[in-house]
Amino acid sequence: MAAKPDFQNSYPIKQSEEHRVSRRQFAKFCGCSAIALGAGVPIKRRLSALPKAESSITVATAEEVPVGGYKLFNYPTADHLCILIRRTETVYAAFSQSCTHLMCPVHFRAETNQFVCPCHEGFFDATDGTVIAGPPRRSLPQYFVSVAGNKVIVVPEIINGPDTASSTLHSLNETRPIS
Ligand code: FES
Repeated sequence: MAAKPDFQNSYPIKQSEEHRVSRRQFAKFCGCSAIALGAGVPIKRRLSALPKAESSITVATAEEVPVGGYKLFNYPTADHLCILIRRTETVYAAFSQSCTHLMCPVHFRAETNQFVCPCHEGFFDATDGTVIAGPPRRSLPQYFVSVAGNKVIVVPEIINGPDTASSTLHSLNETRPIS
């Protein structure tokens, strides 16, 4: 009998069997998938969890933000970026700047009244933070804004976000004056 060529000793799998999956390989695949799934859910939850806001903060003065303009600020912690937009002379709105897909910062596009996430082309309506297009499934969390004199204050109340039991969508008049 002729001796096997050298490469057949190095790669002892026959071409006809190369697509067969052994029981061990299948069990390994199932085990790895279960671990990845188990770890992935808490990580995703942690990524999307927004810390509870505890107190109001002054984020701008009226002079700082022109109508149609915006200002970035940190809320509810120094690690969380938010975006304040000014719709009219008296109406402001504040949203988390973290995309609800994988937390990339969104950008305000005044000409289309949208927030745009450049990472995977996610689009949100800047009226209420709802998703218009792209992979995000949840609206951008929106905070109540109050105005006292020329101070613009964000209060610890989420209008529309992942932690609210019901996503109550308010009208454009979400800015409340503080007496
Ligand atoms: S992180 Fe924003 S669309 Fe993916």
